[in-house]
Amino acid sequence: MTKVSMTVNGKTVSGEVEGRTLLVNFLRDDLHLTGTHVGCDTSQCGACVVHVNGEAVKACTMFAAEADGAEVATIEGMANSDGSLNTIQQAFQDYHGLQCGFCTPGMVMSAAALLKENPKPSEAEVRDYLEGNICRCTGYHNIVRAIMAASGQDVPAVAAE
Ligand code: FES
Ligand code: FES
Repeated sequence: MTKVSMTVNGKTVSGEVEGRTLLVNFLRDDLHLTGTHVGCDTSQCGACVVHVNGEAVKACTMFAAEADGAEVATIEGMANSDGSLNTIQQAFQDYHGLQCGFCTPGMVMSAAALLKENPKPSEAEVRDYLEGNICRCTGYHNIVRAIMAASGQDVPAVAAE
């Protein structure tokens, strides 16, 4: 077992992990931060996206020990300090960017990373950035609309059925 210590959502946490323990399992099983989801075992779905030192990372692709000393942010840390939804979360609600919600934490974390590096992305850039996030429910259009709204830009029209 290896001791690890990191900052998660602004709080210092520590624990003991096996070398093979993935960051996503440390977050969910040891820290009980179950908002970060596991939707696949092939590193394709993006339900597990968190931020590590400010970068979007699929937490199933990183060992917990590799995050030793890192600053980690999860969906649980995304709300405003008064507990209200942040701009991206609110936009997902306003534009119906979720149905079952399983992919939503990863989508929100990816969107936050995108808007940090590119505050006014084009619709094509949003779609391109979300390539690593799979949603089985919404058909993506409302997710893209939500992210465009969160960036303060015009929202694409609703797609024809
Ligand atoms: S659980 Fe990490 S990409 Fe699917
Ligand atoms: S809202 Fe159900 S998987 Fe995306």
